[in-house]
Amino acid sequence: MQMSLLIKNGRIFIGGKLLVKNILTEDSIISSITSGIPQADEIINAGGKIVIPGVIDPHVHFREPGMIQKEDFLSGSTAAASGGVTCFLDMPNNRPPTLTKKDLEMKRVFARKSVVNFGFHFGSSTGNIGEIRNARCIASVKIFMNASTGNMLIENEETIRKIMESSKMNTIHAEGKDAERAIKIARSAGKRFYLCHVSDAKEIEKVRENEKRNVFAEVTPHHLFLTKKDQNRMVKMKPPLKGENDRKALWEALRDGTIDTIGSDHAPHRPEEKMSSELFGVPGVETRLPLMLDAVNRGLLNLGRAVQTMCENPAMIFKIKNKGFIKEGKDADLTIIDMKLKKRVRNDSLLTKCGWSPFDGFELKGWPTHTIVNGRVVYENGSVAEKDKGTEVSYD
Ligand code: DOR
Ligand code: ZN
Ligand code: ZN
Repeated sequence: MQMSLLIKNGRIFIGGKLLVKNILTEDSIISSITSGIPQADEIINAGGKIVIPGVIDPHVHFREPGMIQKEDFLSGSTAAASGGVTCFLDMPNNRPPTLTKKDLEMKRVFARKSVVNFGFHFGSSTGNIGEIRNARCIASVKIFMNASTGNMLIENEETIRKIMESSKMNTIHAEGKDAERAIKIARSAGKRFYLCHVSDAKEIEKVRENEKRNVFAEVTPHHLFLTKKDQNRMVKMKPPLKGENDRKALWEALRDGTIDTIGSDHAPHRPEEKMSSELFGVPGVETRLPLMLDAVNRGLLNLGRAVQTMCENPAMIFKIKNKGFIKEGKDADLTIIDMKLKKRVRNDSLLTKCGWSPFDGFELKGWPTHTIVNGRVVYENGSVAEKDKGTEVSYD
């Protein structure tokens, strides 16, 4: 059944400013932004709160198929909704990895459980160039230039160049010297790509000095808020945490526009698995927005940059149709935030199936109160509705 929703009295983030307006959504589209008070089936009073475009997480590992003891599309997406995320892009290092049309179709079926909107990054291997050329409706083709969860490492430069030449867009895991290599290969292939999780000052320098600007750069909250001194927080991940100077350089690059997006790199593993073997990755889809809003409250970043890097830029870089901005005619994906709300991150109140966070115990000021997906309230003040499902995004 179609429905209309009115969000009234909010301060709406439009064109870099906060305007006191009411938003009417109808049939999953923003139908009007007005000073009037239109009729609606459902009304949210957002008085005192801010409405931002639905938050997009461009980098998550929801583990389905193959590792659903860690996460699946239902648990991952409810965690996303409680973190204010209306849309995520899922990575291909599953079991089996997403390397063929058939693998992708299978994932599409699994993702029907998701309560928020979703899209997929396709995988690459030495042998799937034909599949890459034929892949449709994907955000990017992922290349792992370093070994990590899922044995998808590709080292040969010729192969990497061929994959780039065969893709519209690539997301690349490449650390340190390999980030430099990725930039060089992309340049020779005449391609622009998305560099996942920059983590140190040297990588930032390489991105900055690349005057052609053929790279979009992402940073994760764990690299922004933690350093290698935090080893007691189960923070083994790829790329590893660095020192304080690197952390500062990441903040500088985030503020000055060298970094384009914040991706959670949500990579859940169960605590007992993490203790008993060498597993890389930390969860983060539910804590990314509150961590960044807390940073806004502390003056580390302005709200405009937070919205650019978590809503607008992910939509623009991956050409996600109709999302990323609050505008009449865009999809009704909206996140309502309360910049005064204080809460503590606690392992036992998280919705991720892995049940822990490296930020356990952090008290943060600035949290989402409502997550609205396709004009329906999926998350509201602590609870997630699982009835309505999200839909797969399309691309311009
Ligand atoms: O720490 C990581 N975990 N880095 C990656 O590149 C993959 C991820 C995972 O999927 O576990
Ligand atoms: Zn990675
Ligand atoms: Zn990742």
